[in-house]
Amino acid sequence: MAAFLQTNMTLDSIKVVPGRYSSLTDRAPYRIRCAAASPVKKRYNIALLPGDGIGPEVISVAKNVLQKAGFLQGLEFDFQEMPFGGAALDLVGVPLPEETSTAAKQSDAVLLGAIGGYKWDKNEKHLRPEMGLLHLRRDLKVFANLRPATVLPQLVDASTLKKEVAEGVDMMIVRELIGGIYFGEPRGITINENGEEVGVNTEIYAAHEIDRIARVAFETARKRRGKLCSVDKANVLDASILWRKRVTALASEYPDVELSHMYVDNAAMQLIRYPKQFDTIVTNNIFGDILSDEASMITGSIGMLPSASLGESGPGLFEPIHGSAPDIAGQDKANPLATILSAAMLLKYGLGEEKAAKRIEDAVLDALNKGFRTGDIYSPGNKLVGCKEMGEEVLKSLDSKVPATV
Ligand code: IPM
Ligand code: MG
Repeated sequence: MAAFLQTNMTLDSIKVVPGRYSSLTDRAPYRIRCAAASPVKKRYNIALLPGDGIGPEVISVAKNVLQKAGFLQGLEFDFQEMPFGGAALDLVGVPLPEETSTAAKQSDAVLLGAIGGYKWDKNEKHLRPEMGLLHLRRDLKVFANLRPATVLPQLVDASTLKKEVAEGVDMMIVRELIGGIYFGEPRGITINENGEEVGVNTEIYAAHEIDRIARVAFETARKRRGKLCSVDKANVLDASILWRKRVTALASEYPDVELSHMYVDNAAMQLIRYPKQFDTIVTNNIFGDILSDEASMITGSIGMLPSASLGESGPGLFEPIHGSAPDIAGQDKANPLATILSAAMLLKYGLGEEKAAKRIEDAVLDALNKGFRTGDIYSPGNKLVGCKEMGEEVLKSLDSKVPATV
């Protein structure tokens, strides 16, 4: 099949045709169709939201990888690229245009790059790129955010921790994504009775919100090593007391999963003291935001970590956990692997296409085994490459008939 691909699918055979939202911008939406005859059995609509900074660079690379891995498995994708974040602010004055939200909701899955940048940092809150992301997550109702953090043997030297502490780390952080202090009411900046400004946010969780994320976490742990650690601040916060009560009550439905609880301050410490103790972690929105950045450093670089955000039904949202890195944007220095691995999560969790997902994961390992490294994961003795070249190497590895093993 690889030989077939090489002779039939060239860049010339990819046609760009105008999409539905071409009135919004002539740069943004398009569909790509593969004109080559192929053993296509299934088609999927993918909404691509490149966003800002390094977003467009990593999305363009990941799109090619997704397309080729899909092709090898008989899948075809209709891509619809839509403006989002700062790019959308510049174009139409809002970070999440109605058309982008609709395209995302109507797709089979959404692949997102990154949002934000210095240019919009001083914008009013509702006109910041980050608000677009929060609203997109809420519109898609993707309450469960899966953030794996795995130390690959090839990258153990890139970890900030000692080799013996970092090696073998393989955990999954299940973060609640559309509740808690990020969305709770009341919120805002008001004036109190003394005429002084006060800023307010509310950490609030209803029982059903805790139950549904806890179920995802128990199911996740069950498919991994059967250990679930629920992280909260139940020694202080009422929302956490309820969180612990609900998670504990569900444990009897999952007798095969060993449940433990940890306060978030201790969890932050344990993550760098002895990270191998963790298998699956479940936690609220804000603790998950913080702990997943911390966990990423154990693995060597935030440039390696993908994520999947899933709801009860409807399209999932797949994005690298890194930001838009405006300092290196447009310089071909970004690590595209987190976005490529997000495309693998899209195939696995979003479309149920596990074989195509495995192809991508194996290709990434193969490229790393051959010594290719972007700057963030570079160590002497390896080959320093840019974003595009790393993408080319992953594409080449996808063609290899024998899948790589770690
Ligand atoms: C993340 C990011 C976002 C968050 C920001 C960009 C709104 O830090 O996905 O972790 O806080 O959720
Ligand atoms: Mg974050």
